[in-house]
Amino acid sequence: MSGRRERAQPGLRGEPGLAVETDGLTKRFGHQVAVDGIAMAVPTGSVYGFLGPNGSGKTTTIRMLLGLVEPTAGHRRLLGQPMPQRAGETLHRVGSLVEGPAFHPYLSGRSNLARLDAGDVLADPRTAGRRIDAALDRVGLLAAARKRYRAYSLGMRQRLAIAAALLAPRDLLVLDEPTNGLDPQGTREVRSLIGSLASDGSTVLVSSHLLAEVEQICSHVGVMREGRLVAQGTLAEVRGAGPTTVRVGTRQPEAAARVLRELGVEEVRPMNGEVHGIPGDLEPEKIVAALVHAGVGVQGFSVARASLEDLFVSLTGEGFDVSG
Ligand SMILES: Nc1ncnc2c1ncn2[C@@H]1O[C@H](COP(=O)(O)OP(=O)(O)O)[C@@H](O)[C@H]1O
Ligand SMILES: [Mg+2]
Repeated sequence: MSGRRERAQPGLRGEPGLAVETDGLTKRFGHQVAVDGIAMAVPTGSVYGFLGPNGSGKTTTIRMLLGLVEPTAGHRRLLGQPMPQRAGETLHRVGSLVEGPAFHPYLSGRSNLARLDAGDVLADPRTAGRRIDAALDRVGLLAAARKRYRAYSLGMRQRLAIAAALLAPRDLLVLDEPTNGLDPQGTREVRSLIGSLASDGSTVLVSSHLLAEVEQICSHVGVMREGRLVAQGTLAEVRGAGPTTVRVGTRQPEAAARVLRELGVEEVRPMNGEVHGIPGDLEPEKIVAALVHAGVGVQGFSVARASLEDLFVSLTGEGFDVSG
């Protein structure tokens, strides 16, 4: 420990319970503002989905957090420590996958990890074998450890990249679009891996432009739009910002829509075989009764919070890519 006092960081006291905290974090490239004064709060133990369309500033933010690029303005703390002042003590507790390490195609997964491990000055070479096997085991690649990297599926490659981030025990994992380019099977593999890493006690910050790929595993989300963090909180809090929606499945959408409007349901609109609306305080059973009374055949009926997808569209003005 040096006796040097930390420089005062206005607005950033180092909240206990936050694994990542930023204040006014900003990055400009020339005239372009890539990240515009964001205040992130990633609670310890959370899986934080850092969401936003391509170009919204996610990677730039992550690079600033990890000290790979200097902010134009603002402050950041990782694991309670100010960056970059405490980078030396902090970064070895942080595993990251940003661009993905360059793996050698003709070496096995194990040999690739051995090369990366050997490049880590903090890692004890005498325990390398154990460390590498533990990381391979953690991502389910032990059985394929001797296969050449070029023979790995995309999902296996991405899991190897995560294994590289796990060579040392980590309190915080920062994964930038870990499901990018993966097929549905690979995506499922990575998603379930992230879930199990979190249940082992690591805080996970995972970015994606594909909402559906992370929504199921996140406890918290932050939504980026054009460099700004436009929503942040627990999944329930962010969803709670949207209204409850009623959905009626019917072959008579016009008749159903008329009944809903007469009841006072707002924003009634037919949507591919369903009619959606915002019921406000109306009790669902009243709606069903009115539909039945009017002779409308009801094939399906649900009342739910607007999906995060709907919310994302309303927050960013654009949908997530569906194709990836
Ligand atoms: N090194 C750079 N030089 C200039 N512009 C950049 C650089 N890196 C990112 N940008 C720009 O900053 C914006 C945010 O990019 P990025 O952080 O990569 O977004 P995301 O990861 O959400 O897709 C984009 O408009 C991008 O073109
Ligand atoms: Mg990116």
